[in-house]
Amino acid sequence: MGVVGTGHVGLATGASLAYVGHRVRCLDNDQERVAGLREGRIPFYEPGLEELLAKSAGRLRFAGYERLAEVLREVDVLFVAVGTPQGADGSAGLSNVADVARAIGRSLGGSRPHKVPLIVVNKSTVPVGSAYYVSTLVSEGIEDAGGESAEFRVASNPEFLREGSAVHDSLFPDRVVVGTDSKEALDALRILYAPIVEQSFPTQWDPRPKVAVPFVTTDLASAEMIKYAANAFLATKISFINEVANLCELVGADVSEVAHGIGLDDRVGSRFLSAGIGWGGSCFPKDVATLRATGRAYDHETPLLDAAAAVNERQRTRVIHKLQRDLHSLESKRVALLGLSFKPNTDDLRGAPSLQVASVLTSLGARVVGYDPVAGKAAAMLAPDIQVVFDPYEALRGANAAVVVTEWEEVRGLDPKKAAALMREPKLIVDGRNALDAAAVREAGLLYRGFGRGYDSD
Ligand SMILES: NC(=O)c1ccc[n+]([C@@H]2O[C@H](COP(=O)([O-])OP(=O)(O)OC[C@H]3O[C@@H](n4cnc5c(N)ncnc54)[C@H](O)[C@@H]3O)[C@@H](O)[C@H]2O)c1
Repeated sequence: MGVVGTGHVGLATGASLAYVGHRVRCLDNDQERVAGLREGRIPFYEPGLEELLAKSAGRLRFAGYERLAEVLREVDVLFVAVGTPQGADGSAGLSNVADVARAIGRSLGGSRPHKVPLIVVNKSTVPVGSAYYVSTLVSEGIEDAGGESAEFRVASNPEFLREGSAVHDSLFPDRVVVGTDSKEALDALRILYAPIVEQSFPTQWDPRPKVAVPFVTTDLASAEMIKYAANAFLATKISFINEVANLCELVGADVSEVAHGIGLDDRVGSRFLSAGIGWGGSCFPKDVATLRATGRAYDHETPLLDAAAAVNERQRTRVIHKLQRDLHSLESKRVALLGLSFKPNTDDLRGAPSLQVASVLTSLGARVVGYDPVAGKAAAMLAPDIQVVFDPYEALRGANAAVVVTEWEEVRGLDPKKAAALMREPKLIVDGRNALDAAAVREAGLLYRGFGRGYDSD
């Protein structure tokens, strides 16, 4: 099998399928990335992935995208896992997927024989209906190359892995979803995923008893919609608890207690009920925006999704308001951002709340210093407004305020007394993840403001 795109999704997919026994060819149009991967270097921070790659080495090979035609002669299934970056309205852009689809068609239409039919599996998150678009583009490519008899089938196999636990999520997914109207595609993917679905591979990673993974088969549009609905639901759940948190601040309730109390109901569940700065990353904002754009395309309103996005935007503003409340003017104030990546255990800064908050703070005249245990270097290149340091206490030295943006262990474990000794008045901590022990922070002489933790979060 083959994978086009060696990003967070493509690499984890290729490496996990190689680990469970398949021979995998991975392609990318980023030559530097391919060269690094050939030497076993991962282009981003993902715990365990380098080890998985090493363990799969004999079955996993990397090549430049220009070798697509050659790879297509070897593989019977080709996953497309290229990026679908946000367009002007925030929704997914299809240009990479379209380029790959046309190139597959041209290669299939070329003169050399291929395994027939080729199963083209879309793993990128794409708007509902994109599988048909991909199918059309592959067919056009085949026609352009004059190879009308080349056969292919299309399937949608959305990905649900989380950055930071991509290895675990690829080997032990909650479910595998396949949408297709082709029996050949379904059969091929059933065989390919069998070791994962049956959990029949040897593993050191998860000591839990092996339970078969649900293999969900459906039509193309439903598979594409499952991905969007899953992410939109999770984003809405976070916005919901943030709405509750904001009310908690008015009535003197503690949102952590409330979340615990409602989360014990297994119809609700306790996960994704953490109040704070809101959701970010390369998926939630884009996927919610894409679903809203789908509604607009059909002249259909999506008030719940609109509200989820609006509540999320407002959480960023609430960080600024909490700073302004105690610092008053932010002009020339030094504000430390603790954690820069969009969540812990990744160096990914796409859609990171830290960047949004830093840009508002800078526009208000603040001097922003940022610390992250892993994403510091990337942030220094991406966000010149942030003075990046590589020690959390260095960030706190002389800071009038600090914002907990990402709940890394290194941030959760900060010594409040040491922080208090280094900071300057009013020594404010805005805990954007409700990650710190509020009482210990206050006891150390710091001013603490969380989210939804009682009146004004005092
Ligand atoms: N990152 C996640 O947590 C996650 C989870 C589920 C789904 N997704 C979806 O999966 C898709 C990929 O996301 P990602 O985070 O892996 O992206 P990424 O940016 O990490 O990787 C994309 C890769 O595709 C390569 N690429 C782009 N255009 C190409 C082309 N024309 N030919 C060959 N290679 C090309 C890039 O060089 C890059 O290596 C997106 O649609 C995303 O929404 C992402």
